[in-house]
Parts: sequence; structure tokens; C-alpha cells
Amino acid sequence: MNSAEILLERIRREGAIDGEVIKVDRFLNHMVDPHLIQLLGNDLAGRFAEGSVTKILTAETSGIMLAQAVAMKLQIPFIYAKKKRPITMREYFAAASYSFTKQESTTLYVSREVLCKQDRILFVDDFLAKGSTLKAVEEIISQAGATLVGSAVIINKSQRRDIESILTLDDLNPA
Ligand code: G4P
Repeated sequence: MNSAEILLERIRREGAIDGEVIKVDRFLNHMVDPHLIQLLGNDLAGRFAEGSVTKILTAETSGIMLAQAVAMKLQIPFIYAKKKRPITMREYFAAASYSFTKQESTTLYVSREVLCKQDRILFVDDFLAKGSTLKAVEEIISQAGATLVGSAVIINKSQRRDIESILTLDDLNPA
């Protein structure tokens, strides 16, 4: 079985698909199966092996596990944008993101110490829904003068096809 088939089987067995809402909190984003995450991370990382990516960028919280897995496979560091700025973070890039799922606005912060204009960034996250996290990340990357090489998510719920993913909504709700 490939990684998409393995994930689909886990969702059917231990999760749920309720239209556009996918329940994955028994193996992906609350209780986490590290083997599954690494399998998915390896798959997505393989699609960027030639991209000369220098760093992975995600947003806390549930993007972090995938970011770690992809970063491990590509042997590069990952950064997670923080949703609260620690007082120790004096110089930073910041952008607001509105979550339609949670119906609230959050600001993402990345320290100027970890992102520079030479960086070639791969954005990763668990879900891509409306793309507001990606938009905020794009703004942060542009503030830094860095380059966004690509985006990779586990489940792409949008119609965008320029995003690498393991599954799309069409895979989950076949006609
Ligand atoms: P967007 O960034 O692409 O616009 O998406 P949106 O704001 O609508 O939703 C993103 C948040 O909702 C993410 O969490 C994501 O993990 C979660 N999410 C979106 N769709 C689903 C779904 O079908 N199932 C589950 N389980 N979660 C979903 P977050 O707000 O970034 O916060 P965190 O949970 O990572 O801290």
C-alpha cells in the first residue's frame, strides 16, 4: 500500500469523514502515530528532494509533527511560526491569519534570527483549508526576502492544485 492508501485506511478505521471535516485526532493531530507521520513526511519530502530547500516552515501547533518528519528526511532544520510572541523575541516578522475553522484571527511570529533572505522555504502543514495560514506564511517569507519553493500538506481541502498533498477532498469523498 502507498502512503495515501495507508492514510485513507486509518481515516476509515479510526477517524471519520463528515463532508469537509475530517476527524484524525486518534492518529494525526491529538494522539499522534509517529510511524504514520514519518511515512507521510518521507513521501512529501521525496517530492522536494531536488528543490534545494534550506528550511521547512510551519505554524504551531499541529503542523509541527509533519514539519519534523519532513525536515528529518531532508536533513534540514524546521521553523514553527509562533502564535504568541515570547518577550525574548525582540526582532521578528509577523503576519495575521484568520482561521475559518476556529473563527478567530491569530498572528504568526517568526524571529529574524532564524529566517534570512538566502533561505529557500518549504511550507508544510497538516491541513490546507482556506489557505489563510499559507497566506500569512507567504507574507512572512516576503518580509524576510526569502523564497517559497513549495507547499506540502497531508490533506488538501482546497481546490488549489499547486500544493503537494497525500490526500485531497476528492480522494476522501469520491463521486
Ligand atoms: P487555513 O489556514 O488553510 O485557512 O485553514 P483554517 O484556518 O480554516 O483551518 C486551519 C486549522 O483548522 C488548523 O489548525 C487545522 O489543523 C484545522 N483543520 C482544518 N480542517 C480540519 C479538518 O477537517 N479536521 C481537523 N481535525 N482539523 C482541521 P490551526 O488553527 O492552525 O491550529 P492548531 O490546531 O494547529 O493549533
